[in-house]
Amino acid sequence: MTEPATANPIPKDPIPEDTVQATLAYQIGNDRPTDDPMLQAIQEEVGQDFAPPESLLSTNFTTETYQENEVFRCINLTKSYGHGISYTEVIKGINFNVLEGEYIVIYGPSGSGKSTLLHLLAGLEVPTRGDIYVRNHPIHRLNDEELTYYHREEVGLVFQNFNLLESLSVWENVSFPLMLAGAPREWRQHEALKMLERFGLADFATHLPSQLSGGQQQRVALARALIHDPEILLIDEPTGNLDSHSANIVIHEIDRLHKQEKRTIILVTHSQVFLPFATRVFYIRDGTLLTSNEPSRLNST
Ligand SMILES: Nc1ncnc2c1ncn2[C@@H]1O[C@H](COP(=O)(O)OP(=O)(O)O)[C@@H](O)[C@H]1O
Ligand SMILES: [Mg+2]
Repeated sequence: MTEPATANPIPKDPIPEDTVQATLAYQIGNDRPTDDPMLQAIQEEVGQDFAPPESLLSTNFTTETYQENEVFRCINLTKSYGHGISYTEVIKGINFNVLEGEYIVIYGPSGSGKSTLLHLLAGLEVPTRGDIYVRNHPIHRLNDEELTYYHREEVGLVFQNFNLLESLSVWENVSFPLMLAGAPREWRQHEALKMLERFGLADFATHLPSQLSGGQQQRVALARALIHDPEILLIDEPTGNLDSHSANIVIHEIDRLHKQEKRTIILVTHSQVFLPFATRVFYIRDGTLLTSNEPSRLNST
């Protein structure tokens, strides 16, 4: 296992108060054309029902074949729950790929299928139909050992509502992925403390999660996702219930993980504050993906 990336101070530049306006101004001003129909549609959507232009109602954002720098490829990915009268299709045959170093934001309202999609990519749920490939390996056909390897080495997960284990201390939570990897306790503690220091949480190492604020718990969840130095990060609603100061820290830390550490990030959210940081934005509605940005439009430096 490689050393976790060097600790850097967490930038604390505030996101301006009016995040919606700031987001759109940033996005339009920086690297997105002002006539981007998706942005205009999102802009019009604020607080209302979203009615995308017909031209954006495509569901194909990938190729059938593997590309060298590809991390994920989803082909006709479909997830349904229930049978008969209770049957619901939550993910409706979507096609997209993710290339190395991308920061993908999947943006959409509550109930649109964001968490389900992320759990599918994480190998925690099995598709009803279709395929998910991670680096050209069909993820949903991995055996238990291969899936454990995927979780232990390749992917870091940040769940909606943190999913911290309440009976474990903060450092034990952070070191949990290393425990799965069979690392000795002393080494795990050492690595966890380094990670907590980086997130400004070293003083809370022996606390229980319930003794921390929401913002602190979210940073613990991020630290846990990073402890095994994964190349891929899957992040669900990271600022869900955070105050604006905690949210700023989390937003900028994720941006840094992308820009400086070159990690591939897929983040799902109903919050617009992440849009300017993304290399590509997908809008998700009723289990269907929409976008107008090409994968080649990376803004990373
Ligand atoms: N295990 C499940 N059984 C039945 N329906 C589910 C299940 N998980 C999610 N759903 C439904 O799928 C839809 C999308 O849920 P979810 O992926 O959590 O959306 P989001 O994260 O965008 O809020 C919702 O209508 C939800 O009720
Ligand atoms: Mg969700």
